[in-house]
Amino acid sequence: MSIMTTIISGKKQDSIHWNEVVQTEIVKKMNVLIIGGGGREHAIADALSKSSKVSKIYCAPGNAGIAKQAELVALKDTDVNGLLTFAIEKQIDLTVVGPETPLSLGIVDVFKENGLRIFGPNQKAAQIESSKRFAKDLMIKYGIPTAAYEVFTDFNEALNYVKEKPLPTVLKYDGLAAGKGVVIAETIEEAELALKDMLVDDKFGEGKVVIEDYLEGPEFSFMCFVNGADVYPMVLAQDHKRAFDGDTGPNTGGMGAYGPLPFVTEEDQNYALENILKPTAFAMVEEGCSFSGVLYGGLMKTKNGIKVIEFNARFGDPETEIVLPRLKSDIFDIFYGIAEGQKIEIEWDDFPILGIVMASKGYPGDYETGYEIDCRGVLNTSTTDVKVYHMGTTEKSGKLLTSGGRVLMVVGTGKNLDEARAKALEAVKKIECENLFYRTDIGVKALI
Ligand code: AMP
Ligand code: GLY
Repeated sequence: MSIMTTIISGKKQDSIHWNEVVQTEIVKKMNVLIIGGGGREHAIADALSKSSKVSKIYCAPGNAGIAKQAELVALKDTDVNGLLTFAIEKQIDLTVVGPETPLSLGIVDVFKENGLRIFGPNQKAAQIESSKRFAKDLMIKYGIPTAAYEVFTDFNEALNYVKEKPLPTVLKYDGLAAGKGVVIAETIEEAELALKDMLVDDKFGEGKVVIEDYLEGPEFSFMCFVNGADVYPMVLAQDHKRAFDGDTGPNTGGMGAYGPLPFVTEEDQNYALENILKPTAFAMVEEGCSFSGVLYGGLMKTKNGIKVIEFNARFGDPETEIVLPRLKSDIFDIFYGIAEGQKIEIEWDDFPILGIVMASKGYPGDYETGYEIDCRGVLNTSTTDVKVYHMGTTEKSGKLLTSGGRVLMVVGTGKNLDEARAKALEAVKKIECENLFYRTDIGVKALI
């Protein structure tokens, strides 16, 4: 149903003002479908459930935590046709896409072709995440600060290039690899092994490799709601990508996050907005792939200024779990407005907040699932400054079980970061499960 042909009191109106439409549809109350089943989607469901404009939330496939706010739908986030059929049948007014894979499969294009309202970028725009090369070429063409790079498909050529460059060097598989397609090689031998994985053994699929200069400095995630050239910043977050304390171990999807960030000044944030996020949104419009949804800048504050490490075409996970609780505005209005191509208004709180991910032992490598989790120690306390987001859980015969690599994100708030961290850690310790591990140093660098 197109917004301009919304039925008001049974009469079809063809040229009504946007505000009237919102008012009318609000009275009607909305059915919303969230696609995805991790902590990010739990935080989205949580925020949407606070909106008076939403009557029913579905989530596909969801998880045991999301089931408290939404009706779970047994469809994979990659089952585009199944999701489309479901959305039509249930008369979904708005679909919100969490993960990158359905976006890169073109779910937004398919829903829109079928007249459905959906929040997220189309397939062409989602390339900013699904192709490292697309993102790098765009940044170079539009003068957006990032590390110098070359692209290779041939193993020997790639290896020769690495041998000529200083170490460490950064090797990035040119496609989606769930945060595992990036290798920082300290030695030629490590680089050779990684290049073999990516270009000879096609470990992530057939593809190319982007080799880029190594940058140094603290990283931060700057997510913005974007609607063509209009960019609406969110509050900042810092993720912790490495698996273990002291930033050691393999890269993961993210082991914890916090905000606000003491090392990013207001001037830095303005610089990043004006010189990175806004020009990127503009560049996408110029290139004929206008972006709509959440543009995530993975940025690094180097001694030569703030530079882009990566772009994502969606909310970050676990960043969303500590960003959305600080949103004061109604998230439904934001999703709806962006999906309709309208201007929006957003207000944020910026209280200290910190979250710790509890992951299955072995993650990001092989891990087992099906272990029982006992969260009663946290849920039985009446504290409002701790929240447990489910990332990979399921419920069977009344028991809560692990079902993914990252399992829970335990978030604490406080009057300062120290207190937020203490709250989160205390809660983590009350969660009982024999197969989980977590980092104890999330946010510690911010406290020094
Ligand atoms: P990406 O998937 O591109 O975000 O890369 C994953 C992680 O690898 C980043 O969060 C950084 O910690 C690290 N990384 C990526 N590119 C670079 C670079 N050019 N220099 C230093 N570290 C990098
Ligand atoms: N936490 C990093 C990401 O969502 O890509």
